[in-house]
Amino acid sequence: MRIDQTGTRQHGTEPGLLEVSDLRAGYGATLILEGVSFTVPPRGRLALLGRNGVGKTTTLATLVGQTTRHGGSVRVDGVELGSLSSSARAAAGLGYVPQTRDVFKSLTVEENLITGLKGRPRGALEEAYSLFPRLGERRRNGGGELSGGEQQMLSVARALLGQPTVLLLDEPLEGLAPVICDQLMDALSKLEMTVILVEQQIDRALAFADRVVFLDRGRVAHAGPADGAAADSALLERHLGVSLAA
Ligand SMILES: Nc1ncnc2c1ncn2[C@@H]1O[C@H](COP(=O)(O)OP(=O)(O)O)[C@@H](O)[C@H]1O
Ligand SMILES: [Mg+2]
Repeated sequence: MRIDQTGTRQHGTEPGLLEVSDLRAGYGATLILEGVSFTVPPRGRLALLGRNGVGKTTTLATLVGQTTRHGGSVRVDGVELGSLSSSARAAAGLGYVPQTRDVFKSLTVEENLITGLKGRPRGALEEAYSLFPRLGERRRNGGGELSGGEQQMLSVARALLGQPTVLLLDEPLEGLAPVICDQLMDALSKLEMTVILVEQQIDRALAFADRVVFLDRGRVAHAGPADGAAADSALLERHLGVSLAA
C-alpha cells in the first residue's frame, strides 16, 4: 500500500519509501542538522553512523517531529511530514524506538504492549510474543523488573505493534550483553520493513544494513553501500575514529 498526498492509501506499490531532503533542524534557535539528505527505499536498511554529538539522535527525533524544524523536507511514501503531529507521523508509517527506551516502569509487560496497539485487537500481542518469546514469559512482570535486554525487546515490540512501514532504532544495543545483542539482531533481521539503525556497534550495524550514511557535525559526510564501508578501514577511521577488528 502507498499513501498519496491526500493521505489516501493506494494499492500496488510497496510502502516504506523515506525521502529526506536538505533537512535543517535543531533545538529552538540552535541549528544542529545543517542540510541532511538521504533516501531509503521500501525495505531498505540504512545504518546511520558517526561520532558522538554529530546529530544521529537529532535526525531520528526530527523525523518523528520532536525537534524544531528549520527547513527541508521529509516524505514517507510521498506524504510530506513537515507540519504533521507526532501521531499523524505514526499514522503515515513511522515507528520510533528512542535511545532512552520508552518502557513504562509501573505497567506490566503486557500493559506496555497494549499501549502500542493503536486500536488493533488484543490478539495482535501474539506477534510481539512470537518475535520475542521472552516477553511472553515475562508478560505479567512490571516494566521496572526487566533486564536491559528485555526492556529493549519491549520497546521494539511495542513500536512494531503500530505496524510501521519505516522503523527508527536509536542505539538499541547500548548496554546489552553480547548474547542479547545477538538475539536482538536476529529478531531485527527478520523484519520486512524500512529500517534506520543508529548504532555504536559498527560491525553489527554494517552487517545488518545495506546502505550507510556517516554524519559529521549535522551534515552527511559519506553515503554508500554497507559492505563496502565494512571493508574500508580508512573510511571507518575517518568518520568514526575506530576500525573494526580484523
Ligand atoms: N535537547 C537538546 N537541546 C539542545 N541541544 C541538544 C539537545 N539534544 C542534543 N543536543 C545537541 O545536539 C548535538 C547533536 O546531538 P545528538 O543528535 O544527540 O548526537 P548523536 O546522537 O549523534 O550523539 C549535540 O551537540 C548535542 O549537544
Ligand atoms: Mg544519540
